[in-house]
Amino acid sequence: MKNFRLFKTNDYEELSIQSARVFSGAVLSKPNGTFGFATGSTPEGMYKELVRLSNEGLVLFSGITAFNLDEYYPIAPSDEQSYSYFMAKKFFDLVGVPLSKRNIPGANNDPKIDCDLYEEKLASGDLIEMQILGIGTNGHIGFNEPSDTFPGRTHLVRLAESTIKSNAKFFKHPADVPKSAITMGVGTIMMAKRILLMVSGEAKAEILRDALTGPITPLVPASALQLHRNVTIVVDKAAAKYL
Ligand code: F6R
Repeated sequence: MKNFRLFKTNDYEELSIQSARVFSGAVLSKPNGTFGFATGSTPEGMYKELVRLSNEGLVLFSGITAFNLDEYYPIAPSDEQSYSYFMAKKFFDLVGVPLSKRNIPGANNDPKIDCDLYEEKLASGDLIEMQILGIGTNGHIGFNEPSDTFPGRTHLVRLAESTIKSNAKFFKHPADVPKSAITMGVGTIMMAKRILLMVSGEAKAEILRDALTGPITPLVPASALQLHRNVTIVVDKAAAKYL
């Protein structure tokens, strides 16, 4: 399969441990580097494992600069449903990533300014060493939803109905899911030196096959990864069903 490095694991726990190995390896070789983070349910187990490795002193995260893929819009960083909150509670606070080195889109209330500022910040620093990605059941990466074109840079997006439905599990009432988000563009994501794509569960099996082996099309945003030269994919058995 193209240039992908594929790790097939048995279950979610193994997937989390294997992903943590890959990611911590990248951090160990560049302890002051810039790294790209994702939220959602898929990387949660990996973050737990990374926290364990950090607590054991096996890998240090205090020197890294972090850029997250996306954030709901509008949302306050203190909101428990925000991705800022997710990252703080599940990873950054626990491994000592300084506040000044955590970058998550949003916070200004003018989306155009927020998006431009985010791109400027990304462009003014080093390239992202490794970008963590999950995939939506509709093939989205970040919140780049299926569309007619591949969005280049960080932008405001209206979430697809299927994304709103999938993410309702994190909210008390489905109606509370924000309808918009700010996300790095596919072009922004493709700038990362390496990509770590994590995919778990049978619900993702078909779209993963389409993304990795089907035509490269913005209708399946993750298919753009076929054009990237350094993608590591960690899947569990269920997600690998059609590979
Ligand atoms: C999260 C993100 C999304 C998720 C995707 C899968 O920052 O950008 O693309 O990776 O929606 O979500 P889960 O892991 O909850 O299935």
